[in-house]
Amino acid sequence: MTADSIARTVVVLAGGISHERDVSLRSGRRVADALLERGHTVILRDPDASLLPYLAESRPDVVWPALHGASGEDGALRALLGMLDIPYVGARSDAARLAWHKPTAKELVERAGLATPRSVTLPRDSFRELGATQVLDLVRSALGDELVVKPAMGGSALGLTVLESIDDLPRAVVDAYTYGEVALIEQRARGVEVSVGVIDLGDGPFALPPVEIEPRGGVYSFEARYNAGETRFYAPARLSDDVIRVAQETALAVHATLGLRHISRVDLIIDGAGVAWFLEVNVLPGLTETSTVPQGILAAGFTLGSVYEKLGEVAIAEQLS
Ligand SMILES: Nc1ncnc2c1ncn2[C@@H]1O[C@H](COP(=O)(O)OP(=O)(O)O)[C@@H](O)[C@H]1O
Ligand SMILES: [Mg+2]
Repeated sequence: MTADSIARTVVVLAGGISHERDVSLRSGRRVADALLERGHTVILRDPDASLLPYLAESRPDVVWPALHGASGEDGALRALLGMLDIPYVGARSDAARLAWHKPTAKELVERAGLATPRSVTLPRDSFRELGATQVLDLVRSALGDELVVKPAMGGSALGLTVLESIDDLPRAVVDAYTYGEVALIEQRARGVEVSVGVIDLGDGPFALPPVEIEPRGGVYSFEARYNAGETRFYAPARLSDDVIRVAQETALAVHATLGLRHISRVDLIIDGAGVAWFLEVNVLPGLTETSTVPQGILAAGFTLGSVYEKLGEVAIAEQLS
């Protein structure tokens, strides 16, 4: 706690039953430690059937949901926190739901004039009804052979394939359906991958320095994310000032277009012409040791504790206003 901050009671939520449970536990631990160091009372909780009664009874000053995947990002828990009238960090429920559904986020971002790879969204039933071969042949002729297949909702690259050969398309689609009923087949963007954090410390959202991602195996897979040394990060990205500005402006535009607040992370690929292609946005980005938003925070000259604390303060202030 610093002279200008108040000691708060903060419930950090981590874990959950999503596929990203382990990542969330690591993010939550890091947020909790950073807040503890700042002198706050921190309760680290895994969401379960006792959570809502506990929150209703104990009424913490703020909830810090370090939950990834459906548990924290699909908007449901956020709606319930809103019903409890307890301030929480990050996007409101409705905005979180739009961002969580990748095809919807892409559509809104495209309408706002930003670039996102061409794609088609296909529920599993469309294959049953229209025939897998017939559907995939058409997709291929319309979108070409350089494709990425992913679940329409998800994270940490689970169920995602960057196709090495078009022959892998049927298997990639099957893999995506193991994580959900709807798959997104997208043209592959080529260029430099960056992750751009957006935070609001009380004076409106601003973009952190973009963090460049260079996975050793070429694909920013689950393994490449959470095993030290599997990916090289550059914070800030090795890009010209002009391109860095484009990436930051794009991230801010996405954050605003989707109506997000407090914190988000926009994943982009910058092509050779300097165009920033929007892949997706996360309302509760990874905050583990190897995650990009903490790297962006440090590259901007902030400490993690001061930022996580400030985000809580902004949430509290908004609730009161
Ligand atoms: N259209 C695409 N073109 C090139 N690479 C992609 C594309 N979509 C995803 N990727 C790669 O897969 C990773 C994960 O995809 P993303 O859409 O960000 O989903 P997740 O929610 O799993 O992070 C990206 O970080 C990028 O490396
Ligand atoms: Mg991503």
